[in-house]
Amino acid sequence: MKKSLATLAGVMLITLSGAAFADESEDVGKKIYERAFGRGCGSCHDIASNPQLSALIKDGKLDRASFENTLKAGKGGMPKAVEEIMKVPAVVKAGYGEDQAVDAIYAYLKSK
Ligand code: HEC
Repeated sequence: MKKSLATLAGVMLITLSGAAFADESEDVGKKIYERAFGRGCGSCHDIASNPQLSALIKDGKLDRASFENTLKAGKGGMPKAVEEIMKVPAVVKAGYGEDQAVDAIYAYLKSK
């Protein structure tokens, strides 16, 4: 009984810290979306004629790998973005590397 209670407490702790991490990451992602390039990704992507990132990700039409490729290499009217993303104060403060920062914005767009 004691042992199973301890196990349960352990599982809850892990679940809670996992949730807290996901929240923090999505929050950093939101700040990237609003602040990268000074005016945010939304300054272009919230315009209907440009790719609607959140909808594409939710519909399974934009996977994590091609998302990252576009950020690294740019694409047509889409400027290279990784350097700008790494300068967003929330990214610097969280101490994220490139992978974590791309995860954060991808997770935010998926949840948006
Ligand atoms: C100056 C305007 C502009 C800004 C700022 C901008 N984008 Fe884009 N983005 C575009 C345009 C235009 C395209 C379409 C490019 C094409 O398909 O030729 C695009 C395409 C993309 C794509 C590829 C979509 C697909 O279907 O393959 C991704 C991913 C993307 N942008 C992410 C971002 C993120 C994340 C940010 C912010 C860090 C951002 N963009 C900021 C204009 C912008």
